[in-house]
Amino acid sequence: MRIVTTIAEARAAVRALRDGNQAGSIGFVPTMGALHAGHMSLVCAARGQCDAVVVSIFVNPTQFGPNEDFAKYPRTFEQDCALLESEGVDLLFAPSADEMYPLGASTFVDVEGVSDRLDGLSRPGHFRGVSTVVAKLFHVLAPDKAFFGQKDAAQVAVLRKMVRDLHFSLELLVCPIKREADGLAMSSRNRYLSPEERRRALVLSKALWRVEELVSENVVAAPALIDAALAVLAGEPEVRVDYCKIVDPETLEEVADVRKGALAAVAAVVGTTRLIDNTVIAPLVTA
Ligand code: PAF
Repeated sequence: MRIVTTIAEARAAVRALRDGNQAGSIGFVPTMGALHAGHMSLVCAARGQCDAVVVSIFVNPTQFGPNEDFAKYPRTFEQDCALLESEGVDLLFAPSADEMYPLGASTFVDVEGVSDRLDGLSRPGHFRGVSTVVAKLFHVLAPDKAFFGQKDAAQVAVLRKMVRDLHFSLELLVCPIKREADGLAMSSRNRYLSPEERRRALVLSKALWRVEELVSENVVAAPALIDAALAVLAGEPEVRVDYCKIVDPETLEEVADVRKGALAAVAAVVGTTRLIDNTVIAPLVTA
């Protein structure tokens, strides 16, 4: 695996990969490092669908609010490299903040509307930072396919719209949420949790299972599903719910019922760690 840190090197390395694969396809997995099985499932999908795989590791300062965890975000570069190497990744782009945001840079990408919903409502400016850095990475690496995790469902909605609105010539693919055996959605932030907090955090997936259970019993009204999820979440009073909503997966606007399909999404703070989880509700089949 080749590791590059500058934009010029990254562009040249991608050109070389394309030439080496007779202009074959490039799959890209953007990450902030602290890799876990969820990230590796994206790498695997890219490996399966593309001729060459490029991964980026960049803890993007512009997507963190002033009181968020940018400084303490886990940085495990050596371990990450070993994992990526073992999965046959061809190229790792690991730029510095100065490389991505040169002095005086003042151009940002703002996907209006959708960026202000779900996490965007609680984390103002978060999706502006995400869209900006992902647009920069797409420009530099020019992938044919880019792979994202369903766990960040709101991020997926924002980036899908950005790709459409800005005519990026690539396909955005979404891989299912990877869970621990007990249901906890995998996240780089899970390592902040104490054993007791980790136990409490299970209430997020339990609340979503309750929604799935009710939908399978033909409960379709969003308020009833949200109330049921909130009742489960209330079972862990130490867990502070940020949002628990049923929304359109594309626009992230709240829906009245789930008959046409929906996204049930929850965010909550456990100790000092903000966690998110979601489940996709398929459209109901009518006879
Ligand atoms: O999902 C993430 O890890 C980040 O938001 C991303 C897409 C790498 C942008 O910094």
